Parts: sequence; C-alpha cells; structure tokens
Amino acid sequence: MRTQVAIVGAGPSGLLLGSLLRAEGIECVVIERQTPDHILSRIRAGVLEQITVQLMERLGIDGRMKAEGLPHGGFNLADGERLIRIDIEALTGKQVMVYGQTEITRDLMAAAPSFGLEIIYGVQDVALHDIESDAPSVTWSKDGTEQRIDAQFVVGCDGFHGPSRRAIPDAVGRSLEKVYPFGWLGILADVPPCNHELIYANHERGFALASMRSSTRSRYYIDVPLTERVEDWSDDRLWDELEIRLGPQAAASMTRGPSLEKSIAPLRSFVSEPMRHGRLLLCGDAAHIVPPTGAKGLNLAASDVHYASQALVAHLRTNDTDAIAGYSDKALARVWKAERFSWSLTRLMHRFPEDGAFERRMQVAELDYIASSEAARQAIAENYVGLPI
Ligand code: APR
Ligand code: PHB
Repeated sequence: MRTQVAIVGAGPSGLLLGSLLRAEGIECVVIERQTPDHILSRIRAGVLEQITVQLMERLGIDGRMKAEGLPHGGFNLADGERLIRIDIEALTGKQVMVYGQTEITRDLMAAAPSFGLEIIYGVQDVALHDIESDAPSVTWSKDGTEQRIDAQFVVGCDGFHGPSRRAIPDAVGRSLEKVYPFGWLGILADVPPCNHELIYANHERGFALASMRSSTRSRYYIDVPLTERVEDWSDDRLWDELEIRLGPQAAASMTRGPSLEKSIAPLRSFVSEPMRHGRLLLCGDAAHIVPPTGAKGLNLAASDVHYASQALVAHLRTNDTDAIAGYSDKALARVWKAERFSWSLTRLMHRFPEDGAFERRMQVAELDYIASSEAARQAIAENYVGLPI
C-alpha cells in the first residue's frame, strides 16, 4: 500500500487530521488498534474551545454539535461560601461549547466515508520505520497477515501509550512530567445539572466539579487519593460528598440518580519535545497530557491537528519544507501555555496533601484577587475560552 500521509490512531486527533487532509485532497490512511465501539466507550471531558468548534464547522459536520451542544458564556469557581463567576462572554466576547468529546469522535467516525477517509481498525504490532528518511513506512499485522504502507509522512495520533513517540530516538527527544497526588472520581448520570454553568469547587474536603452533557445528563467529579478504589464509592456516598464539596446552594438543586459510568482517572502534566522528528509528526495525547482542570486535552489536540494539516498541505502541494520544519515550535508554543493554565487551575482548586497553612493562604489570596479584579478574571477567561492559534 502507498499513501501520502499514514496516521497512527483513530482517536479525536487522528480522525480530525484525516478529515482535514481529505478535505484538502490529500491521500491518507488511519491505522487503529481498537474497534470503533471500544473507542466510543471512552468517556472524557466535554468543553470545546472555539478552535475546535470552528474545525468541525469547516468540515461541515457541526450539525449535531450545534443542535445538541450547550453554548456557555461563563463558569464558576466556588470557595466555601463564595461563588466567583468568570463571565467569559463579557470578558472575551466568546463562548465555549459544552458537548461531549465522545460525541465529537462519533461525528468524525460517521463522516469518514463521506471524506473518503480509510480507517483500518483492529490492527496489531504497529511499527514505524525510516522516519529520518524521505520514505517512511508503517507496518502492522491484521488477522495473522503482515501489512505495510509506504508514505511521505507519518503522523502519530496514538495517544499516551502508542508507539509513535517512542520512535523518536532518546538522543533527540525528551519528556517533562508532573504527576499529581490524586485522581478524579467521575460519575455520569441521567439527571438535570445542579447549575446552568460549570462549578469548580475548592472545599476543605477537596476538589469537586459540577459539569454536564445536556439539560438531562450530568457529569460530576471529586478528587480522591490514588489509593482509593472505585468499588468503595457507592453512588450514595459519592452524591453525599458532592453535596458537601459543592456547597449548600448547588446541593439544594442537585438531583441524584444511578451512575451510568463511574471511574477514577489519575492527573498528570506531560510534554514530549520535539513534536516532529524527520518525517514523523506527533499530535494530541501522543505528545502531551494535561490534567482535566480546564478541559484542554481535546482542544490542544485540535490545535496541533490544525497546525499539522497546514504544514502537510503546504509541503505536499508546494514542497514548502519550512512549514514542516516549523511545526514543532509552533505547536509547542500553544501546548506550553495550555499546560501552564491547566497546572495553575489544578494548583488553585485542589488541596495538595503536602500543602501547609502558607500554601492554603496563597490559594485564599489568589481567589480573593480573582473575585476583586476584572484583569485577573479576564486572564482566566481568555485561557479558558482558548488562546489564539
Ligand atoms: N496502534 C494503533 N493505534 C493505537 C496504538 C497502536 N499501537 N496505540 C494506541 N492507539 C490508538 C488508541 O487505541 C486510540 O484510539 O490511538 C488512539 C489515541 O486516541 P486518544 O488517546 O483519544 O488520543 P488523541 O486522539 O490524541 O485525543 C486527544 O482526546 O483521548 C482524549 O484525553 C485525550 O482529550 C484528549 C484528546
Ligand atoms: C467534563 O464535563 O467532563 C469536564 C468539564 C470540564 C473540565 C473537565 C471535565 O474541566
């Protein structure tokens, strides 16, 4: 087999990149280890920046998102009794879209045939070859047969555990990482949200987040030590804890219901540099992870894919080699700013076990400052809504 761009991984990054390239008439093939059902069973964050919404619009597959998604003009930081509203619409003139990331993946998967995007699911033993040459290739096995695709470029969209990042030699690449001493225990339930906007709460018992998927489906989280097991959290125990941490106002409007999903996700900040080596480009979770505070994961993947598709189109159409050479620096400049924002919001809203009275006073002072300063709220709003690309 031969193509122009071989894409490893059919998560949101790989599907979005494949669709954008096909829309520009570039040949590409996506190679994925899992089945479509498995990919769609992953439940993840649900706040989209304008860049992500605009890419779906550009592809003409924004219909369901526009019909079912909830545009939000603000969100809230709760600190004990106080609710600090960040009026993102007044402060930036923009909104975010609350729409599940899984739904974006579903929309992209459904549209793939109309773009002529070939996705090969259920592959094993994916390996990348000759990425430092002008003729890289990818091999895999499927149903016991070895297969190979020759390409002009390979793009690793294969998430944190995929093989693409590891194909960059140790002498060239380096990773920077921060692991947090807690995870988020999440619950999804078919109950109306307790508030019309998201609430991120810093309570003495720990962090909580009230989010939603629609006017009838809610998503809530609390932070828990990494030693906790999901089996120890009955639905009732989790609802009780959410009521306490989110405060009396949210508790009064909270509706309980059986969990459709309940799981614990550890928090991590991670960046692998550079995001290109030879003819291999990395996009999305293959290159970086953010803690979910601020919901930047999918949105960062979308901006990587935007830069990567522009660089690939420029190279493949006009042989513009500078575009590919500049990809990593351009993508990383935005990645590091989103890493900083996700880290600082995590720092502000969680009680770290190693923190003492001084660190707590710093949190209180920062929340006071945010409550009293429009400049501080504006800085949060412009990061939350997404920095320019
Ligand atoms: N061979 C082929 N495919 C692979 C391999 C492999 N060896 N390893 C992983 N993959 C696939 C995974 O099965 C998955 O479908 O790559 C895909 C990576 O998808 P994601 O992990 O969703 O990463 P990405 O598409 O970059 O998404 C970024 O979505 O996953 C969330 O939290 C993430 O919000 C972030 C955003
Ligand atoms: C979610 O709805 O799952 C969600 C929302 C906002 C976040 C993280 C997760 O910051």
